[in-house]
Amino acid sequence: MTDEYALLDSGNGRKLERFGRFVLARPCAQAIWRPSLSQAEWEAADASFDREDGHRWRSRERLPDQWEIEVDGLRFRLSSTDFGHLGIFPEQRVCWRWIGEAVKSAAHPDCHPRVLNLFAYSGGATLAAARAGAEVCHLDASAGMVQWARGNAAANALDQAPIRWIVDDAHKFLTREIRRGRRYDGIILDPPSFGRGAKGEVYKIEDDLPETLASCRQLLTDRPAFFLLSAHTPGITPVVLENLASDALRDLPGTLSSGEMLLTGAPGVRPVPSGCMAAWTARATPRSRDG
Ligand SMILES: C[S@@+](CC[C@H](N)C(=O)[O-])C[C@H]1O[C@@H](n2cnc3c(N)ncnc32)[C@H](O)[C@@H]1O
Repeated sequence: MTDEYALLDSGNGRKLERFGRFVLARPCAQAIWRPSLSQAEWEAADASFDREDGHRWRSRERLPDQWEIEVDGLRFRLSSTDFGHLGIFPEQRVCWRWIGEAVKSAAHPDCHPRVLNLFAYSGGATLAAARAGAEVCHLDASAGMVQWARGNAAANALDQAPIRWIVDDAHKFLTREIRRGRRYDGIILDPPSFGRGAKGEVYKIEDDLPETLASCRQLLTDRPAFFLLSAHTPGITPVVLENLASDALRDLPGTLSSGEMLLTGAPGVRPVPSGCMAAWTARATPRSRDG
């Protein structure tokens, strides 16, 4: 599978990454070590984003409004946003692969696993699940992000796939789904540290995540297949996610594992820890701690 993303270097609080034909330098608080490449190699980046004096890009004009890259066989439309995001979290690659396997193992000839993806952003997890044969409900509070994700579905010829696109606040939606008695075989969520719902509802992970997980538990079928929780919040470690997930799923027989998500590049390039995940499957087979 083609991979047009690579971490090239990191250090001094920044990361240098390749996204297709463009090399970008952006902030990376956890990269407190020294860079391996020279200053000249960093300065050769096509564009860079800083947060020091206000959020701003340098040489943004060198970047097209939009360009496409392929990661793990999935195509993503990228664009430089005012917040320094591009429309992809490459560290989620490990999750997309895991989701593909989990959906395939849950699939039966006459039934497509039903999957709910919350805080779904540009849709990487949605596309990984749909590509593997799932019926997916994709939820995000931002209409712009849901449109972006639909563009990615079209870029992967998945625009006709059974995907329900929802713009709403996660908690509002979960309450309604519980009332409707809807059930899912698999649930995926990647809550932000701090976020706003479609009508400005505040989401703070340390306050709201236990409730989100309890509501998700009520939406699982009697014999669910999988559950995947990830987060990018300092202080929320793999074990924190595993403890939270084991709380919510304690009555379900299965296997829970957790680990760090990493930004990676060619052999020899130091990986950058970038969030973490906890993964539950109904499969009895034990999985190693790092997924
Ligand atoms: C960290 S991003 C998720 C990244 C995504 N899982 C991925 O890897 O591509 C968080 C997303 O949550 C959405 N969001 C924030 N607050 C929300 C809320 N209260 N309800 C639903 N979505 C929310 C944001 O619009 C953003 O797209």
